[in-house]
Amino acid sequence: MASSKMESDRPAILGGKPVRSRPLPHGAYIDEEDIRAVTEVLRSGKLSSLSNPIVEEFEKAFAAYVGTKYAVAVNSGTAALHTALQAMGIGPGDEVVVPPYTFVSTATSVIHANAIPVFADVELSSYNLDANSFEKSITQRTKAVIPVHLFGRPAEMDAIMEVARRHNIMVLEDAAQAHGASYKGRNVGTFGNAAIFSFYESKNMTTGEGGMIVTDDEKIAQRARLIRQHGEPSWYYYVELGYNYRMPAMEAALGLSQLKKLDKFNSIRQSNAAYYNSKLSRIKGIVVPKAPDYVKHVYHVYAPRFLEEELGISPSIISKALSAEGINLRPIYPRALYLDPLFQEKKVRPKGCPYSCPYYGVTRDYPPGLCPNVERLTKEVFSLPVSPLITKEDIDDVVAAIDKVLAWKDELAKIGA
Ligand SMILES: Cc1ncc(COP(=O)(O)O)c(C=O)c1O
Repeated sequence: MASSKMESDRPAILGGKPVRSRPLPHGAYIDEEDIRAVTEVLRSGKLSSLSNPIVEEFEKAFAAYVGTKYAVAVNSGTAALHTALQAMGIGPGDEVVVPPYTFVSTATSVIHANAIPVFADVELSSYNLDANSFEKSITQRTKAVIPVHLFGRPAEMDAIMEVARRHNIMVLEDAAQAHGASYKGRNVGTFGNAAIFSFYESKNMTTGEGGMIVTDDEKIAQRARLIRQHGEPSWYYYVELGYNYRMPAMEAALGLSQLKKLDKFNSIRQSNAAYYNSKLSRIKGIVVPKAPDYVKHVYHVYAPRFLEEELGISPSIISKALSAEGINLRPIYPRALYLDPLFQEKKVRPKGCPYSCPYYGVTRDYPPGLCPNVERLTKEVFSLPVSPLITKEDIDDVVAAIDKVLAWKDELAKIGA
């Protein structure tokens, strides 16, 4: 724990000199190969998946990487979730168990499918769905569960799959943040009936915007392809409600090029995370993320817990003080999803559907305190930059800024920074 305090080291928020004079690197890692790949598609004039076979090429390469029979490319991770749920037959009257400590569309995609999200708690150690809480949330309406491999750390799939199998519940893995992660030697995305990935700009590999559904189930894959393309199996002939969720050819070109670098990106993220851990684990009150040996954590986000009672200063004050130092320490997911008006007021569709849908027929509320671990983590977990653009020198700056802020915690607490 930092204890020495020098006037020359005064925090920027108290009038001192900031640790960083230029911002930490931000955005996607894009190289000349990526630029060439996208340019080639642009020059061809064939920009759509309907005219350019490169989207299918990307699907094949991604399925081979993950280890599934099929992959269906779409234009976002959210579209992938919606498509996968519909392709799995989830609909009115069904409940889907989800953690409330995740990006919003893990839960809203369930509503898009006209089903009801039921929130189960997470483990404090992994931030991922707790199999016991999942089991307690099951009712006779439960059709599916969406475990999220949050921040790049695989969920406890043995326990989750065991509960799902026992209750005959389908599993859709949300691997939006976990490209290349594995659990007991098996890639995430290969456990459930289907899985989804996102290729948003900040993800471990990107296509700008984009998503992928992977599965070994031919029926799910075929139906997902239909839903992606207006439910249109042949020219101007429509068999089910679909969308235009197609991935453009430029994105697939970028995806193919990024996929080649994914393992390299992940090892930089892992080495950055290990470096942070080596520097921060000495500080009492900072709980660094540590994955067990049987898990390959790919650190989409590096997110330690900041325990106010042990640090003697609130993480939100640390965050403000670090911001003045030029360091972004963000609370990641600042509230349990169900505490937002969307879920509290359940005004999601006209006339209260799907909550008031006659096919549902029960009342589903989300009272505060529903998932105590999540409500705790939302106050304690903050993220630090870990992307492949971040160097060890950048991390040294982050750690120096944290040390500085903690050394001045009494003064910072006084001004309530
Ligand atoms: C866990 C999780 N699920 C789903 C999504 C949705 O992906 P997209 O932003 O590509 O729609 C994201 C992306 O932020 C995510 O992090």
